[in-house]
Amino acid sequence: MHSGGAGSLRPTVKPLFSESANAIYWLSIAILAAAAVGLPALAIAWARTPYATGQNEPPPQPVKFDHRHHVRDDGIDCLYCHAEAQIAPRAGVPSTATCMGCHAQIWSDSPNLALVRASYFGGEPIVWRRVTTMPDFVFFDHSIHLAKGVGCVTCHGRVDEMAQVYAVAPLTMRWCLDCHRNPTAHLRPLDAITDMEWTAGAAYTPPSDVRPPTDCTTCHR
Ligand code: HEC
Ligand code: HEC
Ligand code: HEC
Ligand code: HEC
Ligand code: HEC
Repeated sequence: MHSGGAGSLRPTVKPLFSESANAIYWLSIAILAAAAVGLPALAIAWARTPYATGQNEPPPQPVKFDHRHHVRDDGIDCLYCHAEAQIAPRAGVPSTATCMGCHAQIWSDSPNLALVRASYFGGEPIVWRRVTTMPDFVFFDHSIHLAKGVGCVTCHGRVDEMAQVYAVAPLTMRWCLDCHRNPTAHLRPLDAITDMEWTAGAAYTPPSDVRPPTDCTTCHR
């Protein structure tokens, strides 16, 4: 746009710089501007990609724990193992004592459970890899979401169908805010919080007094 022809628009004034110097000037400005805008934009865009956030990508775990068997086939409620979620910011992962409550009897010789037994008798907790994480500068609290009727499946997806848990939500600020601005469609009765298959029927009217705050200090304290 400014290259070449720019000088010819001002024929009466003798240009201070030659036509080609002018073109080089504008070209370098353009490159600098593109780099200044482009690189951070690229970095930000990259940080948001499912690849960088780990979305849809299960990390390897020390024990082949399968939610499909435990939740679907055996009908164990989420809160049996993630009880903290009801009362605390963190949902937490169960201790090996919880596993051994069943596995001292069931599959007690399974090689797949060797590490669980070793952990239980040796007192060393199993170090599970985190799937869903927030940066340190973000405050999140499970208990308020459950108390107001947001179900596990809304944020974590069909965990009962996952051989290995992976994150389904983008977990970005926009994702949080999209719901905080308009929560009604995401609410359910409190007795359906851990139900993976519940859908809103005509009979269900969500409460109208649920208003998640959107001011910065809600999530950044
Ligand atoms: C028998 C115990 C048990 C039950 C029942 C159970 N979980 Fe888990 N859950 C675990 C263990 C152990 C892990 C850690 C290993 C893994 O990620 O698979 C885990 C991990 C998770 C994670 C990933 C944690 C992270 O780091 O982000 C989510 C999400 C989760 N469970 C949700 C659920 C939901 C939803 C239900 C009910 C549908 C449920 N769990 C039922 C034991 C259980
Ligand atoms: C409103 C969205 C939302 C709902 C509802 C929700 N979670 Fe989470 N969950 C998250 C986020 C975000 C994290 C990461 C928290 C962090 O890193 O501080 C997380 C982390 C977890 C973890 C990893 C351990 C931990 O506590 O950080 C487990 C396990 C888990 N959730 C299970 C559950 C279960 C079970 C339910 C339902 C009873 C549930 N979640 C409901 C958003 C949600
Ligand atoms: C309420 C009972 C119960 C609890 C608690 C429980 N499990 Fe299980 N688990 C079972 C049953 C039942 C099976 C058999 C599942 C099937 O094949 O349908 C099983 C199967 C397994 C298997 C597969 C064993 C094999 O050789 O195929 C592993 C691994 C396992 N559980 C790990 C764990 C871990 C780790 C915990 C604790 C976080 C845990 N379980 C807690 C009931 C339980
Ligand atoms: C699917 C809907 C939904 C999503 C997604 C969601 N929230 Fe919420 N959030 C709610 C609801 C509903 C409340 C409770 C509002 C009320 O008390 O009336 C709430 C409340 C909160 C509160 C407590 C506010 C207070 O002080 O009373 C915090 C903190 C919060 N959310 C953080 C987050 C963060 C961080 C994320 C993203 C990682 C997130 N939320 C994602 C629906 C959601
Ligand atoms: C409902 C929760 C919530 C609210 C409200 C919220 N944030 Fe965030 N914010 C997040 C989460 C989650 C992240 C980290 C995830 C990500 O990278 O997008 C984040 C990240 C950020 C970052 C880091 C840069 C970035 O984009 O990753 C900045 C800066 C920020 N927030 C500023 C703000 C400001 C300013 C406000 C008020 C206008 C605000 N936030 C309100 C949840 C929230």
